Amino acid sequence: MIHNVGTQLRRGLASVFSSRSSRKSISHAENHSDAMADGQGYRNPTEVQMSQLVLPCHTNQRDELSIGQLLKWIDTTACLSAERHAGCPCVTASMDDIYFEHTISVGQVVNIKAKVNRAFNSSMEVGIQVTSEDMGSEKQWTVCKALATFVAHHELTKVKLKQIIPQTEEEKTEHGVAAERRRMRLVYAETIQDLLASFPIKDDMENRDCSHMVPAEKTYVESVELVLPPHANHQGNTFGGQIMAWMENVATIAASRLCRAHPTLKAIEMFHFRGPSQVGDRLVLKAIVNNAFKNSMEVGVCVEAYRQEAETQRRHINSAFMTFAVLDADNQPRKLPWIRPQPGDGERRYREASARRKIRLDRKYIVSCKQTEMPLSVPWDPSNQVYLSYNNVSALKTLAAKDNWVLSAEINQVRLYTLEDDKFLSFHMEMVVQVDAAQVFLLLSDLRRRPEWDKHYRSVELIQQVDEDDSIYHVVSPALSSDAKPQDFVILASRRKPCDCGDAYVIALRSVMLPTQPETPDYSRGETLCSGFCFWREGDQMTKVSYYNQATTGLVNYLTTNVSGLSSEFFSTFKACEQFLLNNRNDLAPSLQTL
Ligand code: COA
Ligand code: ADP
Repeated sequence: MIHNVGTQLRRGLASVFSSRSSRKSISHAENHSDAMADGQGYRNPTEVQMSQLVLPCHTNQRDELSIGQLLKWIDTTACLSAERHAGCPCVTASMDDIYFEHTISVGQVVNIKAKVNRAFNSSMEVGIQVTSEDMGSEKQWTVCKALATFVAHHELTKVKLKQIIPQTEEEKTEHGVAAERRRMRLVYAETIQDLLASFPIKDDMENRDCSHMVPAEKTYVESVELVLPPHANHQGNTFGGQIMAWMENVATIAASRLCRAHPTLKAIEMFHFRGPSQVGDRLVLKAIVNNAFKNSMEVGVCVEAYRQEAETQRRHINSAFMTFAVLDADNQPRKLPWIRPQPGDGERRYREASARRKIRLDRKYIVSCKQTEMPLSVPWDPSNQVYLSYNNVSALKTLAAKDNWVLSAEINQVRLYTLEDDKFLSFHMEMVVQVDAAQVFLLLSDLRRRPEWDKHYRSVELIQQVDEDDSIYHVVSPALSSDAKPQDFVILASRRKPCDCGDAYVIALRSVMLPTQPETPDYSRGETLCSGFCFWREGDQMTKVSYYNQATTGLVNYLTTNVSGLSSEFFSTFKACEQFLLNNRNDLAPSLQTL
């Protein structure tokens, strides 16, 4: 269905747009942003690049670049980018999930590019891209993408960082979405703990073939490292990349002990450096295989630091979970032996590893999936609710950050912009209202009030208050034609206050599937892909309000008639929205004054 939409849209619009001129402006904008992203004429001031020739001393037991070495290079490049922006020393606070798509052989070149996506207060999100290059054939591969958070410190005090001003479309998108990723990161540990505690995990141990089971304790590794000056920065703080490399080393040993072969690291789960360690610290690393699935295994690693003079006072520095596979000569994953966990903690970790696997797969699918690759409605489930909410907001921010919007019509200071890309036709309406942004946020984020100004919303019922910022509604819309049934929608609304000044208020809307809200014969079930509001404070009591919609088939006809001036329905609906905001501008709850 999604794929047909683009074709229909293009056909529908062919007569409406002065298609040559709008296409020209789109391709011009694309070329412009490509050129900027390419670095021809523009280079992000925080960008740092590192290129390394992979030598035998960098490789592992499979004669491939060791992931530990790669993590050291990634961390150094990202840290230099963070320090370039901060102008002072920075430490690694966390690293998001990393999925390794390719291994790298001796003689190939690794290219690492890092840039700061956004600065918050004392922390920054750094985006890292790793590619490999074959010198003989000129071929290039994406190895992985990573997102790290660095915290700036100046003489042990916190630093207030200057903001990043994004220039290109890609920078604007990353800047917008970084705020949403930060939100997810900061609740990550609790989210996982809640999910693990509430997850009904099937215990499949009884169905496993006991003759092929390896006792987990056989994979146990304990190793100690002394932090020396080469492992630390000029302030004596251990490099995050060095710790990650040591963790990868013990995890690989534990994995090898299960499979009795040379395993390949496929993924590292998001982790957080809980506290610093310095030159002179002893680091104790413990690893064990928590669970083995058919073709992959999860190895957990825990790092504690202590000073020689106070060995009993150990500080928990980090824990990480790594997924390994064993590849055969054709790069296909081999079947792995089952693991028999130790009673107590071992059994708990065994079950938690199964749950993490499910959560990880959901997260990878929803978070890293392109908008156009997603099924329109995704099933709502406690294990994916954080990621669906992230996806909802980031899709809207990505749409809003596009730089090839074309002004297509304007009536009474309400502007209609359109954007045509491969698969969709999107539109956005824009106006300035004389109402405070906090009040606009309050009025528009409660979808139950939308029927007061939008006749496409006949009735709205709140069916689930997920948390303070996310709600699920059942919306009924009038029939699209006289012989059709009314439509209904199940919509997730995610609202976000601005992260800093200049940032937008966001109310993102998308369809979800809820088991408690199945389709009924009374309505035809509609779906909305990505829509919602972004608005910005434009001074005292003034707000620029934008409504975005990635148009689906049902809207094409309305859109084309509005663009061509045959109908002004969009404009009158948006004007009704303005009137609704003006009529209700004064019933401001005191708590909202600070929003
Ligand atoms: N992921 C990303 N950022 C995080 C985070 C996490 N899990 N936990 C905290 N932060 C960010 C906060 O958002 C905050 O950012 P902001 O100032 O932009 O709002 C910043 O870190 C400071 O947070 P705060 O709560 O004030 O401090 P904290 O006591 O939690 O300390 C660290 C956070 C990262 C500074 C601290 O845990 C630390 O020193 N870790 C070790 C870092 C290190 O030495 N790394 C190298 C390897 S050991
Ligand atoms: P959890 O036990 O909840 O998984 P930890 O942070 O204590 O979290 O440990 C992370 C991982 O490190 C564990 O899942 C396990 O794989 C490994 N680990 C931690 N402590 C030990 C230990 N004493 N012996 C073996 N492995 C350990």
